[in-house]
Amino acid sequence: MSVGIDEISFYTSNYYLDLRTLAQVQGADPEKYYTGIGQEKMAIAAPDEDIVTMAANAALPLVERIGPEAVGTLLFATETGIDQSKAAGIYVHRLLGLHSNCRVVELKQACYSATAAIQMACALVARQPERRVMVIASDIARYDLDTPGEATQGCGAVALLISADPRLVSLDPEVGNYTEDVMDFWRPNYRSTALVDGKYSTKIYLKALKRAWEQFRQASPLTFSDFSRFCYHLPFSRMAQKAHQQLVKLNRADLSPAEQAAQIDATLLYNRIIGNSYTASMYIGLASLLENTAEDLAGQRIGFFSYGSGCVAEFFSGRVVAGYRRALHSEHHRALLNARREICYEEYLKLYRQQVPCDGGEHTFPEGTTGRFRLAGIFHHKREYIPC
Ligand code: HMG
Repeated sequence: MSVGIDEISFYTSNYYLDLRTLAQVQGADPEKYYTGIGQEKMAIAAPDEDIVTMAANAALPLVERIGPEAVGTLLFATETGIDQSKAAGIYVHRLLGLHSNCRVVELKQACYSATAAIQMACALVARQPERRVMVIASDIARYDLDTPGEATQGCGAVALLISADPRLVSLDPEVGNYTEDVMDFWRPNYRSTALVDGKYSTKIYLKALKRAWEQFRQASPLTFSDFSRFCYHLPFSRMAQKAHQQLVKLNRADLSPAEQAAQIDATLLYNRIIGNSYTASMYIGLASLLENTAEDLAGQRIGFFSYGSGCVAEFFSGRVVAGYRRALHSEHHRALLNARREICYEEYLKLYRQQVPCDGGEHTFPEGTTGRFRLAGIFHHKREYIPC
């Protein structure tokens, strides 16, 4: 029996800032963003949008297809937690009308935790192959204004169904992990924006890739040449290009620059116009690969490198299933991205500053999202979510 990813659906905000606009305000060369970090646009959350509404929006198409009774477990990965105690997934459980027998839990380890959730989901499905596990990753990436990280902000959520005999990608059991206690990126409880040692974080990312790959090679019979495509964690698309160059070099693979690019280019398309969505980022990259590759990928192997600052990393692999195109939500995703509205710098600043208050007061939020769920306000310390 194979276990893996049966379906993927993602969601991002209906607002974006073009990085040319940011560069213009900063007096910087737009090519620093478009080419230097490989990003064009960043998604900015609406004032009535948070990880819960984005998650519910991402998961809705899956629940509409399989029915709310079919989800046995919901694993919610995020580093934009809204409560120290209650799992954000429980709000999603109610909004989607999932069964009261469905277990819900939240996982955290920076951008890596969706991968931990998927591995746990695979183990659950291996024990009970008739059950389906939903993994949702949802995050809003925020850095201080006028810092190098600002241009790498973004937001998004992805929902994945993990099942036996999956229709998209069958995952191999062998993995390579790397963990090290480092302070490259972190967000203490009293901050709404991340602290980051940017250049150091890119070095640690590459070190973790090398070490996770080496361990993967010990665990798995697969070699570099067995893979046709690679999905990397995508803080910005240039990071994946650098990572892939390193892996190619490490394996002394005889590939032209064009051949190297072809192994990752399709994974970058959505991220370039959404920005970093932390836990969701690599899996939006997988959707981008499957939905934008003209060649039939059936039977081909994909290598995945998941990285979460702090840090934990994992290299793992999967094989694309024959007929996978029938299970994709390509049209829905393209329509979502095409319907977004560009905002000017002043609107961006307003949205940036309009984040959910943490003063313990009563608040009503203006309507802004075009999604199916919104955060109406906070009353008596409780977030109130409603369908639109
Ligand atoms: P910076 O210091 O502003 O950028 O920020 P830079 O000056 O190093 O320039 C970046 C690149 O643009 C350079 O290319 C420049 O040469 C080029 P490189 O040397 O890297 O190849 N450049 C230009 N290219 C064309 N035309 C121009 C031009 N000007 C410059 N005119 C930094 C870069 C990544 C540090 C910053 O964006 C940052 O701090 N980002 C946030 C941290 C981050 O994303 N780290 C990535 C690894 S950690 C990770 O992935 C985990 C994370 O997702 C969080 C989690 O796990 O929860 C972040």
